[in-house]
Amino acid sequence: MERCDELATHSRSAEHLERVHLSPEHAAANALVAGWMSEAGLTTWQDAAGNQCGRLEGQTPGLPALMLGSHIDTVPDAGRYDGMLGVLLAIAVAARIAGSGRRLPFALEVVAFSDEEGTRFGAALLGSRALAGTWDEAWWNLADSDGITLYEAFQDFGLDPARLPGAVRRPEQLVGYLEAHIEQGPALDDADRALAVVTSIAGARRFSLEMAGMAGHAGGTPFARRRDALVGASELVIAVEALSLELGTIGTVGVMRAYPGGVNVIPGRAEFSLDLRAETDECRDECWRRIRETAEEICARRGLSFEATEIYRADAVRCDPRLREAVGLGIRATGDADPIALYSRAGHDGVAVSRVTGFAMLFVRCAGGVSHHPDESVREGDVAVALDAFEAAVLALAD
Ligand code: GLV
Ligand code: MN
Ligand code: MN
Repeated sequence: MERCDELATHSRSAEHLERVHLSPEHAAANALVAGWMSEAGLTTWQDAAGNQCGRLEGQTPGLPALMLGSHIDTVPDAGRYDGMLGVLLAIAVAARIAGSGRRLPFALEVVAFSDEEGTRFGAALLGSRALAGTWDEAWWNLADSDGITLYEAFQDFGLDPARLPGAVRRPEQLVGYLEAHIEQGPALDDADRALAVVTSIAGARRFSLEMAGMAGHAGGTPFARRRDALVGASELVIAVEALSLELGTIGTVGVMRAYPGGVNVIPGRAEFSLDLRAETDECRDECWRRIRETAEEICARRGLSFEATEIYRADAVRCDPRLREAVGLGIRATGDADPIALYSRAGHDGVAVSRVTGFAMLFVRCAGGVSHHPDESVREGDVAVALDAFEAAVLALAD
């Protein structure tokens, strides 16, 4: 818990926690985490994608590794547990196992992924997708809000883009990937339970949307002649909520910008985002089809044009049955005879890692389900029991 507090001091601003991919704060956090990994008895390195890694050998050197980890980047104005708690629990488990002198039939690796949220460049999971070997060369040209490309950010961070393949892991090098994470929803808190075993991760798609009409005088232009892009976009925001409720999906517009942006100017253009998720890819895609159809209807009625660019897509992934069983055994070892099983509505590095090895997850209760907010909080007792369960899951797998 103290380490979560200490990591939170490495932030772009003193008032809010924001630590994005390849920033100076990211470098400081990697150094801090590397120190804790060393203290735990791991050998450490920063990989070619900026992921901070540590390794504890098993019964013989060079065995395939069970990876434990999560991410250390954040959303804007973040809480201090989303991602970070999982990295610190992984280090604590490795420290316990190293300290016990017991040598496992696999190596243990801890990974602090460099980018899960996608806050800086829009595309998420850049750290884990580099590790899984599913990198898209087009991403090098993605630019942040200052116009710095991902390629330039790699160089500014001291990484060589040409060496990125060095971060790739092959399936035969890995036993699997386990991640502990706060639930980021209210199911555990509502059920008054500390831990859950995750069954799968929702499918997601993200889009940059634009509606364009015509700017004009806010006083002189009659309503009948307006082509107000922001009103059109606003109608679509309401439709996203209604369609999500109707179809059992989850749609969110988190960014909205009006141009040219004058108090007395009718907005001629609106740029906004769409984050869409569902337990199955079919539901997600059906919801997008209905949203696009509605956008086209709104635009036809209001004299606007509509453009959509897909910026992120992750299909739903199921946890590996054997690893999931180990997580369940881990929870049972803490006295919970019948662990709750939940699917994750939030995205996680396991989505990317699943392309190279199986994964499973342990969820930890967070108060009220609040996350992506500075009030994100966990109980110390829950973290203690999560540490016991996570260690027991690793040992169950070793057995
Ligand atoms: C990651 O936190 C996500 O957006 O699900
Ligand atoms: Mn998050
Ligand atoms: Mn997270």
